[in-house]
Amino acid sequence: MAYSSVEAFAPATVANLGVGFDILGMALAGMGDKATVSWRDAPEIVISRIDGDNAQLPRDPQQNVAAVSARAMLAHLGEKRGLKIQLVKGLPLASGLGSSAASAVVTVIALNKLLGNPFTREQLLPFCLEGEALVSGYHADNVAPCLLGGIVLVAGITVDAIQPLPIPADLHVALATPAVAVPTNQARALLPKTVSLRRLIHQTGMVGRLIDALHRDDLQALGAAMEGDLVIEPARAGLMPLLVEMRALAKRKGAIALFIGGAGPTLCALCDCVEVARRVADAMQTAYRAANLDCIAQATRVDCAGAVVLRTR
Ligand code: HSE
Repeated sequence: MAYSSVEAFAPATVANLGVGFDILGMALAGMGDKATVSWRDAPEIVISRIDGDNAQLPRDPQQNVAAVSARAMLAHLGEKRGLKIQLVKGLPLASGLGSSAASAVVTVIALNKLLGNPFTREQLLPFCLEGEALVSGYHADNVAPCLLGGIVLVAGITVDAIQPLPIPADLHVALATPAVAVPTNQARALLPKTVSLRRLIHQTGMVGRLIDALHRDDLQALGAAMEGDLVIEPARAGLMPLLVEMRALAKRKGAIALFIGGAGPTLCALCDCVEVARRVADAMQTAYRAANLDCIAQATRVDCAGAVVLRTR
């Protein structure tokens, strides 16, 4: 069936899960981006409209993540037709919720449908990465869970390096996103260029423990592993307002652990039921607002579906 226009949705994601820098990511239910792609009579890709970004994203297709991903896909197929992309950003920019990955994935999922699904979901990964790389380098810890849903190990940037992981039954998350932008490239520039062998041993042990905890449905061990990061969080902590206070507050309200979502500033508290997640999210929002920082907060769970097609015409 040939379509002239396809609309899709892609969920928020948090990368790293604390200790798994660039190799672990999780899709989150609720928030996300939408895109509509349509063929146009003229050649070239155009971004015809973006809503929800406060005019901050580039409309220039050379500079726009969605357009770069779409171009990579069309070029791979030798497709010469021009494309119109409309984006609705539901995710705040530079927030640690995988906004750039969602722009790439939502466009690629919609375009694949428009083209008659020439690629499997997994095969779409390299095109998404081309767009993501424009703003934050070649790492798939947001694009892979955004595309596939769930909790994902990305042991590399090729399709065969991606491994879906088990999702503990009671895993809930409280999110708090204070109103400060933390561009990923700036947060990456703060990271150490080398780590000691002692740190390497600790860090790899914690990643192993985290994956084991997922397989054993053990939220306490999962939380301990998530907070076991001795390399990335210490380097970035200064970019996250009230990190220490929020971790203590979240735990007083019943959270198991708290980690930075991707490059931040979103903070993610691991909780074992929806009531605790709501209480923790509300408490973090109130505390940020008391410090004169606006904040989006919510209780959520893992999104298992990944990006989806919403409508075809
Ligand atoms: N793994 C990435 C980072 C995620 O922490 O820099 C943000 O894009």
